[in-house]
Amino acid sequence: MWDRFLRACRCEPVDATPVWFMRQAGRYMAEYRKLREKHTLLDICRAPELALEVTLQPLRAFEVDAAILFADILLPLEPMGAPFEFAAGEGPVIHAPVRDRAAVERLRLFEPEEGLPHVLQAIRLLRRELEGKTPLIGFAGAPFTLASYLVEGGKSSHFMRVKRFMYDEPEAFGELMHKLAEVVRRYLHAQIAAGAQAVQLFDSWVGCLSPRDYTEHVLPHVRHVLASVAEAGVPIIHFGTDTGALLELQREAGGSVIGVDWRTPLDAARRRLGDGVALQGNLDPILLFAPRPLLERRVDEVLAAAPRTGHVFNLGHGILPETNPDAVRFVAERVHRVTSR
Ligand code: CP3
Repeated sequence: MWDRFLRACRCEPVDATPVWFMRQAGRYMAEYRKLREKHTLLDICRAPELALEVTLQPLRAFEVDAAILFADILLPLEPMGAPFEFAAGEGPVIHAPVRDRAAVERLRLFEPEEGLPHVLQAIRLLRRELEGKTPLIGFAGAPFTLASYLVEGGKSSHFMRVKRFMYDEPEAFGELMHKLAEVVRRYLHAQIAAGAQAVQLFDSWVGCLSPRDYTEHVLPHVRHVLASVAEAGVPIIHFGTDTGALLELQREAGGSVIGVDWRTPLDAARRRLGDGVALQGNLDPILLFAPRPLLERRVDEVLAAAPRTGHVFNLGHGILPETNPDAVRFVAERVHRVTSR
């Protein structure tokens, strides 16, 4: 069944539980590393033919039920006027971090067809390639997660700068979130118009906030984005990590599928969220390094805790670069074997 992923997102019956992996394309694959010898990450994102090739690599290697466009959540920052690079070993570096109201005011809104035409072109190429075979997921970073990179200037462990900005200058922070939300809203609509059959909103770092701060500073912006995108009629996966205290609020903010990490068992998530929403997750990516019998047992446990309809198997966060592709292959096959009906 080529569309079991889309059906599970809509809580419809499926012939087997669909599976895909966050970061299913990337450095853990030799095919990707080979391409990276000649091209930088941003080169690949800017060349639709290369992005197409990398997106297809995991589909050739594993039994995955969805393709995720090869791109990065940070791409919209450049057309907003905040250029960045991926520095070897350090992750992303924003050249001029946004730390005051004047910097927020300088950020630009842009039309995705003008600011990120290569991403939309990659989606069109992919749809032609995948038609009737594998659904294509588009994605964007959520406003808070993008704000964390813009304000911190790169990766962060305590999110001190972005939270201080939020507490010290709530109005300027609100304006930043407002601009990011509008960029993300337009970008997701443009991806769907180009052919994305589902979209995932990555609020990867929102788990650093209390429910109180999430409610005041984040939820209204995410709700605005997701209510608008929902009108396009494709499944929306709303994902975050360390969101055990935020799940109900994330659900309230929107999405047809809630992405859950390994800290929250899926049966507990189900009890809290009810059955009007599908769940995605939630194997700990570190279990891919575990001895095979343990990995097998933990995959089976995720499946046993998952709802019968409305489950998309995934990790609780992205595949790490040191992962052995054989473990990924094993998990995809195991999910299909155990759940096929
Ligand atoms: O296969 C896929 O999942 C699609 C491609 C994808 C990438 N980034 C490519 C990429 C996706 C969905 C993302 C999302 C992304 N990017 C997120 C949200 C998901 C998450 O993990 O929470 C975040 C926070 C980013 C920002 C980002 N991009 C960071 C922090 C880094 C550096 C990480 C590191 O380990 O160096 C990146 C770089 C990046 N984006 C890589 C890939 C495959 C690393 C590979 C490379 O340098 O070639």
